Amino acid sequence: MENTETQPKLRSSAFGKDFIWGVSTSALQTEGAHNIDGKGPNIWDEFADLGKIKNKETHFDASNFYEKFEEDISLIKALGIPNFRFSLSWARILPDGTGKINEAGIAYYHKVIDTCIAYGIEPWVTLYHWDLPLLLERKGGWTNREILIWFEEYVSVCVRAFGSKVKHWMVLNEPLVFTGAGYFAGLHAPGKRGLKNFLAAAHHASLCMGIGLRTIKAIDPSANVGTTFNCFQVSAYNQNKVNINAATRIDALVNRMFIEAVLGLGYPTSEIKALRKIENYMLPGDTEMLKADFDFIGLQVYTREVVRHSWYTPYLHARLVPASRRKVYHTKMDWEVYPNSIYETIKKFSAYEGVKKIFITENGASFHDEIVAGEINDTQRIHYLEKHIAELHRAYKQTDKIAGYFVWSLTDNFEWAEGYEQRFGLIHIDYKTKKRSIKNSAKWYSSFLKE
Ligand code: BGC
Repeated sequence: MENTETQPKLRSSAFGKDFIWGVSTSALQTEGAHNIDGKGPNIWDEFADLGKIKNKETHFDASNFYEKFEEDISLIKALGIPNFRFSLSWARILPDGTGKINEAGIAYYHKVIDTCIAYGIEPWVTLYHWDLPLLLERKGGWTNREILIWFEEYVSVCVRAFGSKVKHWMVLNEPLVFTGAGYFAGLHAPGKRGLKNFLAAAHHASLCMGIGLRTIKAIDPSANVGTTFNCFQVSAYNQNKVNINAATRIDALVNRMFIEAVLGLGYPTSEIKALRKIENYMLPGDTEMLKADFDFIGLQVYTREVVRHSWYTPYLHARLVPASRRKVYHTKMDWEVYPNSIYETIKKFSAYEGVKKIFITENGASFHDEIVAGEINDTQRIHYLEKHIAELHRAYKQTDKIAGYFVWSLTDNFEWAEGYEQRFGLIHIDYKTKKRSIKNSAKWYSSFLKE
């Protein structure tokens, strides 16, 4: 697999032998098999059925990880990647969200986990990566406080089933994105809108992080438990006071709201006045219940954002200035390539006393990939990874809290409302044939990991 053009300058050994290196995926984005072997419907199944995905695409067969997991895990092994982060589909395990367990779903994840273990790959499991069972959404989903009970049951079923094999758990994937895009902006499933929906969903998601942690620890006190946050460096558009203040509000929403809630520091209501109404959803005892002493947190960093004041954005009065508008180098998602962001976010989050350990649980890029004579020479992705890992190394030298890094993503997959147009994979998927082809970035990562 050696390729002289893809030889990294920095090697993984520069991070010490205990540093965790891995690759990430999620259930809904890869599995397919959306109505197979007793899986119940989830909010994304309905969202796709309603034609809400770009080009009317669906995730119904995705990269067919459901059937191809062994091939994919053997590729992880062949590339020499020691850790694999993936998620469990709630509705595959509990088709109605609560109550009856789907034994076929449990058996399926046992096969996936056993295959990892057989190949010597450590499984890192996310419990909730945005695919809520539809029947729970019918009862209000994340806006209904009963989610605290439903979620506890789901977590407990998973940890009882897989806890003897899985030692690393992540409770939620990016609470701001699934509550913001799903319950405020209506861009993601379930397509709800409005401040009330957002605040209720956000508070319940915050509480569920602690509930998840305590449920796992009660069953397996030795488990390594974290939860993940999307985050990015925020810069003001210029030094005008209104833009600096707008940047402060975005920073509070994206980089502070959820981590500070679980650290017991409260929500950043002085920066964002509209957040004060979250108190309407708080019951006595919630402040205590929010506190969660995680073993680690996962940061998912892709870009930085430049922010300016805007009267037209409700509540926040701030908007992100797209990278293409700023005419800076960007990925196909129109996300600026700004490696310093990974350094700055690690620095920012490691400054919280309550944060014990940090893993970058996602970092990667979507570019236009072409297969030429059987080869995918994705040099932009290689440079992206190389530069971000160099910034990660800079952070590593300054804080011993940073302990690992996972590339997003193992394979091309279903990019939520964007469908299949965006390709983040180290491995290319031909969606018609489901053929896997190794991109040069995968070879690069593989060489980087070799001693
Ligand atoms: C999510 C992934 C997503 C990736 C790229 C993260 O927000 O966890 O599911 O595919 O970013 O957009």
